[in-house]
Amino acid sequence: MKALILSGGKGTRLRPITYSMAKQLVPVANKPVLFFGLEAVQEAGIREVGIIVGETAAEIEKAVGTGERWGLQVTYIPQLEPLGLAHAVLTAEPFIGESPFVMYLGDNIVKAGIAVLADEFRREQPNSMILLAEVPNPQDFGVAELQGDRVARLEEKPAQPRSNLALVGVYMFDKHIFEAARAIKPSQRNELEITDAIQYLIDQGYDVRSHQVTNWWKDTGSLDAILEANRLVLEDLETDLQGAIENCDLHGRVAIGKGSIARNSVIRGPVVIGENCELENCYIGPFTAIGDGASLKNCEVEYSILLEGSRIEQIESRIEHSLLGKNVMVQKSDSRPRALRLMLGDSSSLTIP
Ligand code: G1P
Repeated sequence: MKALILSGGKGTRLRPITYSMAKQLVPVANKPVLFFGLEAVQEAGIREVGIIVGETAAEIEKAVGTGERWGLQVTYIPQLEPLGLAHAVLTAEPFIGESPFVMYLGDNIVKAGIAVLADEFRREQPNSMILLAEVPNPQDFGVAELQGDRVARLEEKPAQPRSNLALVGVYMFDKHIFEAARAIKPSQRNELEITDAIQYLIDQGYDVRSHQVTNWWKDTGSLDAILEANRLVLEDLETDLQGAIENCDLHGRVAIGKGSIARNSVIRGPVVIGENCELENCYIGPFTAIGDGASLKNCEVEYSILLEGSRIEQIESRIEHSLLGKNVMVQKSDSRPRALRLMLGDSSSLTIP
């Protein structure tokens, strides 16, 4: 069995962060989202992995390399235009050949991994297997309608969803998916939808099975979703104190990396702090991930993701539900006139109490 990991796309819902980085490399609990997928594939006993890349190819290749780190053999497959997930499948046909494969969307995290599903797929050899999860906002996903155990109908982002069962971004296919991807027409958003290709398999009487996720699943494509994924991953964090702690109150599970120092601060885990960070007189609240080289002084941060090199100084209001990009600076100044001075990139958002 092979794996096809999709790591193209523009990440429009995570702008401005995704103007300067691939959405699959935004960190969750200080680890790029894409690495969760690579680990899942590796745990499922798969070695040959194709990664579909688009505009951010260079950055993805730099982060993943040969795949050796995970014991994987990675082949990069450029998709010249983002024409949909089924188009990505067709682009990968020379790599996949006749092999059954798992397709994994590089911005998805599936807590339980995919090893059990991959085993069942290998053993029972249906034509396709899809994963479903109950969600409160099915209109934002592919939606499945079941009749008993059978998948009766799939619809991509329907205005009036017929169920609350979303298609998770992990699919297993045999070679018939290529026939399906060739048969379907582009959707209204001008993409070849994988949802339509699977519907084709169903209509042609192929064996398409479904499973509901046994634990949580997150598509990390938006701010709310990535913060929530960060919370869920941090729920499993283990205490690991490699940095220095001076005169701090630590509660719950806290990980702090090499070369970091926290002074006179209250840290309520789960919190992960990267390497070479400096914290002084801070409150760091639960579900916060702070990237390498960050510097925080006299501030309070909770339920947030800070990328590497962030600096926050002398901010009285607590910062929460926030995602700060690399080297972002938030600071107080006493100079006159007393005004907000901003330099925000396109699509930035700033909420002031
Ligand atoms: C894609 C699929 C959708 C699926 C979702 C899961 O949507 O088209 O069917 O439910 O991934 O992450 P996209 O994130 O490309 O809008």
